[in-house]
Amino acid sequence: MLMRFLPKQSFFKNKQVLLRVDFNVELRKNRVLDDFRIRQTLPTIKYLQKNAARLVLISHLSNETESLAPVAKHLAKLSRRKVFFVPGKISSAAKLVNALPKKSVVLLENLRFDKGEKANQPAFARKLAGLADVFVFDAFGVSHRKDASVVGVPKLLPSFAGLLMENELKSLEKLKKQAKKPFVAIFGGAKMETKLPLIKNFAKRARATPEALVRRADYVLLGGALANTFLKAKGVNVGKSLYEKKFVSRAKKLLKNKKIILPDDYLVAQSLGSRTSHLFSVVSHKLSVGGYIGDIGPTSTKEFSKIISRAKTIIWNGPMGYYENPVFARATFEVAKAVLANKKAFKIIGGGDTTAFLKNAKLPITNYQLPNLFISTGGVRQRTAGGCCS
Ligand code: 3PG
Repeated sequence: MLMRFLPKQSFFKNKQVLLRVDFNVELRKNRVLDDFRIRQTLPTIKYLQKNAARLVLISHLSNETESLAPVAKHLAKLSRRKVFFVPGKISSAAKLVNALPKKSVVLLENLRFDKGEKANQPAFARKLAGLADVFVFDAFGVSHRKDASVVGVPKLLPSFAGLLMENELKSLEKLKKQAKKPFVAIFGGAKMETKLPLIKNFAKRARATPEALVRRADYVLLGGALANTFLKAKGVNVGKSLYEKKFVSRAKKLLKNKKIILPDDYLVAQSLGSRTSHLFSVVSHKLSVGGYIGDIGPTSTKEFSKIISRAKTIIWNGPMGYYENPVFARATFEVAKAVLANKKAFKIIGGGDTTAFLKNAKLPITNYQLPNLFISTGGVRQRTAGGCCS
């Protein structure tokens, strides 16, 4: 998709705008649990609402049967204005939308209610495009998907990137072109599928040409369930710990890369809900079958924090352990402290679980409005209160 940033305000006069947002947020009992993504789109919504004739918001929820109705309610509260919600299929939305008063803001139902969205069916893309004169894409979190509302609609309407996209892209650009060294990348949580390409990319050697724009990391620190997969690849019996079997052989290859730093010690317990834990050191023991790795250990945490404190560029995605249990929250907390305490480094933090942790951790910072810090909306929260992955 060609990412042209928003044109002059006058461009939108008398135009109906279709705005693709990523409101794929965690809901419980019809309430939004974490509204970070919604808040981050407010500037674009306000800008377009003020300047366009009508604003039609579209989003998905990963759960293909879950309704976006509670999100419309939440958005109305946040933006302090009426937000119409159109339930049902998109095909029947056009008539309803066009009957709404001028300047209305409307949110349509979860796009994934229609199979045409994920399948990127041209007919579905046409239906969406038929709702507006102009398309604005502000759904950074879903920009890696090939869904109809991501790649289909921009082929049919004049399309622009929203203000959130602009910020996200600029911070990534900064990482790509101006990352100062030492550059430290920290990855935790699970979902190797999305993180492996990043780990591989950051762990590559920097190109030595003067025109090289891509800066590679100097250290790639691993924690969480990702580290378990690498540990398994090292031949350690990880007991009942979560790891991703299909990535073990790829992790094995990557282990040869000296930039990748795997923790040497871990906190283990008989269950992730346990109130106690014991230390497991890769060097001296074999992990007893039946145990769960809940967190990385104090020695590795200290080592990680030391590396982080010297960094000039930091990217962090994914917690170090199963932080929902305070017994296993220490490493994520210490890493967060080290990242935020490094005032000089340019920092990008992303991933729903990481940002949810930051929101709840009582860290001595206000609203994370720190200079040199960008909190990305990329990466959904993978676990609910019950938790899934360390
Ligand atoms: C995300 O939160 O990662 C995006 O909204 C994409 O969601 P998906 O993994 O269900 O496509």
